[in-house]
Amino acid sequence: MIVPWILLLLFSAVPQDLTGNWAVRVAQPDGTARKTYLNLKQEGTRITGSIRVTQFYYTIVESTGGPESYALTASMMDGNKERRVVYEVKLAGQELHVSTRRRPDDKPTEMVALRAPPGEGALPARLPPPALHKVPDNGLVRTPPMGWNSWNKFRGQVDDAAVRGIADAMVSSGMKEAGYIYVNIDDTWESERDEKGNIRSNKKFPDMKALADYVHGKGLKLGIYSSPGPNTCAGYEGSYGHEEQDARSFAAWGIDYLKYDWCGARTLYGDGEMQAIYQKMGDALRATGRPIVYSLCQYGREDVWKWGPDVGGNLWRTTGDISDRWESMSKIGFSQDELAPWARPGHWNDPDMLEIGNGGMTDTEYKTHMSLWSILAAPLIAGNDLRSMPPAIGDMLTNREVIAIDQDKDGKQGRRRWKSGEQEIWVRPLAGGAQAVGLFNRAAEEAKIIVSWADLEFRSPPKHIRDVWAHADLRADGAKLNASVPGHGVILLRVWQ
Ligand code: GLA
Repeated sequence: MIVPWILLLLFSAVPQDLTGNWAVRVAQPDGTARKTYLNLKQEGTRITGSIRVTQFYYTIVESTGGPESYALTASMMDGNKERRVVYEVKLAGQELHVSTRRRPDDKPTEMVALRAPPGEGALPARLPPPALHKVPDNGLVRTPPMGWNSWNKFRGQVDDAAVRGIADAMVSSGMKEAGYIYVNIDDTWESERDEKGNIRSNKKFPDMKALADYVHGKGLKLGIYSSPGPNTCAGYEGSYGHEEQDARSFAAWGIDYLKYDWCGARTLYGDGEMQAIYQKMGDALRATGRPIVYSLCQYGREDVWKWGPDVGGNLWRTTGDISDRWESMSKIGFSQDELAPWARPGHWNDPDMLEIGNGGMTDTEYKTHMSLWSILAAPLIAGNDLRSMPPAIGDMLTNREVIAIDQDKDGKQGRRRWKSGEQEIWVRPLAGGAQAVGLFNRAAEEAKIIVSWADLEFRSPPKHIRDVWAHADLRADGAKLNASVPGHGVILLRVWQ
C-alpha cells in the first residue's frame, strides 16, 4: 500500500486552487442576508480579483503567503479617500475559511465562504449619468421640515411596531401639535426585489402601505430611505437602476418623504457625478405626481448647496454623521456659518438629525443643540425614542418660542456675528424685522458674555428682549446686555423694536 501514500503526499504538495467566486452569507433576523463575495483568481501563489463586502467593492492589490493560506489586501476609493481591508483565506475542502479584522487591534471575525455561481455579487454595469437639467421645485417644506427619524436611536432595530409607537407618541406627547409631522424610517427596512424588480420591505415591515395608512390616520406623514447605489450604507438593497420603479412603489405605499443616501453609489460614480445621479431620483419622484419631500444625504460633498435645488432637493446634508456627543454636535453646528446664503424656503441646509434625548449630552448641551439648529433654519428631525422621553426632553423639543425661530417664514439662516475665544454670538433675521440672537458659550465653565448691540451691527438697541428658554422678557438696558451663560450652554433671545 505504498502507492496511495505517495499520491496523498503529492496531492497535498500541489497548491490548491482558490480560483472562483466565493460567498459568505450571514442570515439576519429580518430575513435578509449580509453577503461578502471573494472573486479570486490564483496563478501560482499570486491571487488577484475582487472582494465585495455589502456595499463596498474592493480590488485585491496584494497577496502574500501560500500555498496553505494567504493574506489578501484589497483597496477601494471612497471619494478621495482610500479604504483598505485585509482578508486571510485558507482552503479547507469545499470551504474557504476567511478571517478579517475591522481594525488591526480587533479580534478577527471568522467566516466560511462557499462556492457561488460566477458573476453573483459582481459590481453591476455602470449606467451613464443623465445630462443635467433643472427639476422644477415641488413646492414643499416652505419652512424647515419637522419630524422624527429612526437612525440615531434605533439604527438597524427599527420595525413596524416601533414606527407605529413613535407615531402614537408624536401625537400624545404634543410633538405633532408643535409641528413635528414626518415620521421617517431610515436604513434597514429593505429586502431583496421580487421577480419583477419591485423593491420589498423585509420581515420588520410586513406591510408598508398599511403602515403609511396608520401614520396618515394620525394626521402625520411617512418618510423612507434609499440609496442611488446598488446597496445602502447598511448594506441593504439600494435603488440603482430601479429609480423610477422605486419612486412608484414609494408613491403607491403613500410615502411623503425620501432620504436618499449616497454611500453605495460610490463604486460606480465619482463625486463629480453626484448632481446627475441625484437628479435621476428627483425626476423619478416628480414623475409619480405625489408630493414627496426629497432629502439629499451625501455628507455635504461637491458644494451640494449650490445644486441641491436644481435636482429637486428640499434639503441636503452639509456634513458627515452626527453622534450624541457635545464634540460632534458642536463641531457640526458651529461650522455652518458660511452656508447661510444657500438656505431659503423649500431648500434647506441640513446639519443632520437631532440627538436631543439620546442620553450622551447634558440637558444644557441639548438646549444648545436645539437653539443652534433653530438659528440655522435647520430641519428639526428628532432622533430619540419619543415613546419614553422624560418631560424635560419633551418640553425642550416642543418649546414653541424656539420652534418659532426655526420655522420663521422668511427662511433666512443665521450667522456668527461675534466671537471671542469660546464665546460666540449668532444672529438670525426674522420676519417683520425681529432677530434671533444666540449667546453661545462653547467653554466647559460658565462665562460672561457682554452683548454690545452696536458691535452686532444693530442700528439701535432693541426695545424688546425675550428669553425664549426662560419664557421671560428681559429689561432692555441701553447699549449693552450682560449675560452669564453656563458651560456648553446658550441664552437664546428674540429681539425687536
Ligand atoms: C449614513 C447616513 C446616516 C444613516 C445611515 C444609515 O451614514 O449619513 O444618516 O442614514 O447612513 O445606514
